[in-house]
Amino acid sequence: MSVSLTGSCLPPSSSLPPIRSLLSASEDQIFAALKNLQTLYCPVRLPTTISHPTSKREHTSIVSPPGPADSGYASQDEGEDDENQVTPEEVTAALRADPFERTFATQWLNSLLARSEEIEVDDDVREKLVDDAGFILSSLFENADEEEEALTRDFCFPTSSGDSVKVTLNDAPLSSTDHTAVGLQSWGASIVLSSMMCAEPERFGLTEDSLAGKRTIIELGAGTGLVSLAVAKLLPVVGAGPVSITATDYHPAVLENCNANIETNFPSSSYDRPPVETAILDWAQPPTHMKSASDLLIASDVVYAPEHAAWLRDCAAHLLARNGVFWLMVTVRKTGKFEGIPDTVEAAFEPELCPKSDGGMTFTILEREFVEKRRGIGRGDESGYNLYRIGWA
Ligand SMILES: C[S@@+](CC[C@H](N)C(=O)[O-])C[C@H]1O[C@@H](n2cnc3c(N)ncnc32)[C@H](O)[C@@H]1O
Repeated sequence: MSVSLTGSCLPPSSSLPPIRSLLSASEDQIFAALKNLQTLYCPVRLPTTISHPTSKREHTSIVSPPGPADSGYASQDEGEDDENQVTPEEVTAALRADPFERTFATQWLNSLLARSEEIEVDDDVREKLVDDAGFILSSLFENADEEEEALTRDFCFPTSSGDSVKVTLNDAPLSSTDHTAVGLQSWGASIVLSSMMCAEPERFGLTEDSLAGKRTIIELGAGTGLVSLAVAKLLPVVGAGPVSITATDYHPAVLENCNANIETNFPSSSYDRPPVETAILDWAQPPTHMKSASDLLIASDVVYAPEHAAWLRDCAAHLLARNGVFWLMVTVRKTGKFEGIPDTVEAAFEPELCPKSDGGMTFTILEREFVEKRRGIGRGDESGYNLYRIGWA
């Protein structure tokens, strides 16, 4: 089950069998699932011959092949002789540190234990199964502090001119006490959107000509700030003049981490004023002084609760200039509590709900494209992305 072709483990969320099918599964299938969780979460800690210095941070390099970017879970194409190549151990370490996957594995093990009496196996087999599951669970708790270390990720996005845009991010540990700080991690949508913008800047209006006279780009729910940072590094590549880029979020800890990422990519020792700044902005209450202030709005993976789409619609209508464009990348998750959430975007843009301007314009969806999930990018529950171009028409 969980060892990929590159020798690294696969995410529990996409590889563990559903609990209900375990009730009729064979002994071998159940023990194979447990063995793989054990490989991931109970690694044998032997001295290794890793040549790079060990640091407090795990360091995962994410170098994109032409087109798609790569994520912390997958290595580059095999055979690439690149010093940045991700080893299976690094991929497994990134996966092991992933709080979402840990929670998924913990819930799966708890459900298995709760229903162990219903599994059709001999009593001695059941006893071993319960022992193994309990052992993995205790390792998950024991290692919780250690696994919450921050992870540094390097992204490299090819551009249409042949140059590449490189961004280094601090994916801070997801606070165990504050589950709202989801923006401390970079999500698949931000990686895919950054990669698309660098590969096709003209499509997104990120060229010298398209940006002439346009001065302000705002990212909503920016999280780690990956998209803003990628755009800031792309603009000089396309020859565009200075543009103000503001990465916004409503969460103070997320903005603090975003500021650290700006400092990493644009050190204050080299820049009087970094090309990306941050600002606090809650979609439910966009500041009145920012009315029509933005020429380009960007947001990735920001629709994950029923109220988000309507808030973002009204917030974006408030912020976007009449000739501006809002690029919204919505992650399609079809399972669990996210089921149906992606559909709330189009429901929020039903004609009678669309904001209207004084001049009779309507804030509406102008274009929609489904973007396939890319191999190795995003979590197990992501099945793709809906990319919307939204504006006044
Ligand atoms: C799933 S994360 C995505 C972060 C980033 N865009 C990415 O793709 O990696 C959602 C982000 O939206 C932010 N957020 C959630 N509700 C918000 C609100 N009402 N106003 C502003 N930001 C919000 C969160 O703090 C978080 O950074």
